[in-house]
Amino acid sequence: MILKNISIRQFRNYSKLDLDLNDKINIIYGSNGEGKTNILESIYVLALTKSHRSFIDNNLIKNGEENAIIKGTLEKGMIYNLEILLGKTKKQVKIDNKVEPKLAAYIEKMNVIIFSSEDLDLIKGSPGERRKYINLELSQISTNYYNALNEFEKLLKIRNETLKKINNFETVNLNYFNILTDYLINKSVFIYQMRNQYIQKLNKICPSIFKEIWGLDGFSIKYKPSIEIENFNKDNIKKSFETTLKENYEKEVMAKMTLYGPHRDDFEFCLVNDSLRDFGSQGQQKMAVLALKLSEIEVFSDYKKTSPIILLDDVFSDLDSMKKNNLLKHINKDMQVIITTTDLDSIDKKLLKRAKLIHIEKGKIFQKEVQK
Ligand SMILES: Nc1ncnc2c1ncn2[C@@H]1O[C@H](COP(=O)(O)OP(=O)(O)OP(=O)(O)O)[C@@H](O)[C@H]1O
Ligand SMILES: [Mg+2]
Repeated sequence: MILKNISIRQFRNYSKLDLDLNDKINIIYGSNGEGKTNILESIYVLALTKSHRSFIDNNLIKNGEENAIIKGTLEKGMIYNLEILLGKTKKQVKIDNKVEPKLAAYIEKMNVIIFSSEDLDLIKGSPGERRKYINLELSQISTNYYNALNEFEKLLKIRNETLKKINNFETVNLNYFNILTDYLINKSVFIYQMRNQYIQKLNKICPSIFKEIWGLDGFSIKYKPSIEIENFNKDNIKKSFETTLKENYEKEVMAKMTLYGPHRDDFEFCLVNDSLRDFGSQGQQKMAVLALKLSEIEVFSDYKKTSPIILLDDVFSDLDSMKKNNLLKHINKDMQVIITTTDLDSIDKKLLKRAKLIHIEKGKIFQKEVQK
């Protein structure tokens, strides 16, 4: 898929920016703090309705303004006009000028994979950050996953409120509680299966990518569900989840919340059996995330039958030339890639030749194209 153009209004340090993009390589360059990452972020927000680096949407609106608007023309077989409005208190998305009330249907349209300095948080951060990440990736792939997750979260909230009531000796119909638990288990089965399938697919690709980059065998991503699951068939997951919840009923009542389920899952990056979080060097950790994301490109393309849009935020300056070449090898010639850098010299000359160069200064395009 290709993002043909993007227009940004009142977003971060941009009042107004209209940018046509090349189908293949685009390089946004400029000094620190001029607004390069902000453009990538706007593309990410256009695709996913939230930012990869800010939990607070209001930070995205230009200081002193009320709304930010991002529009883009997406080509994937057909043309889609995507639009997102971020207000101080509301968020609205449109497809072809029509308001789309279902976020799931919107998010599924445009797929991006971003490589950025926030990536290390995936290893170093909390399980919650890793879950947020995998949820976003799977939501781009599958509307069913997004919907199942939403329903799961609603059920979880009600179940937790009910546990609180039981703890408080309020009258609760236990039949109702059991039905609720049943629903929660049924919704969880699909989430567990999707997560497991996705990680298995990644693990088919990422060990060899990691080996190419580091020369080390044994890299893998381990799925660590919060319940013991021997195999991921439907009945097995159901039974195991049911048993865990039955055995821990008292404990959950005491805690006033559901202690087991997809909301407590985690993922671990491992080298042989050691966790890279505890044992990996900074460089290995970085390359682990790189290997993950490069594998994702293939897994995404396989699920969606079209390549995602690749956003590379300042990743070249950190890599030595061998790792740079490895990275480039995996970025297929047919994909649209949008790169930011402060230093054009850090970019491979062949890549530079094929690229559209966009020079940014203080939130404006300085010069649209530079003679090569
Ligand atoms: N809501 C906002 N309103 C106005 N300006 C903002 C807002 N949020 C961020 N900025 C400004 O955006 C600029 C940073 O932009 P960005 O992160 O895109 O820089 P960059 O070009 O990627 O820099 P670097 O090379 O250091 O990564 C800063 O000057 C910051 O003050
Ligand atoms: Mg930046």
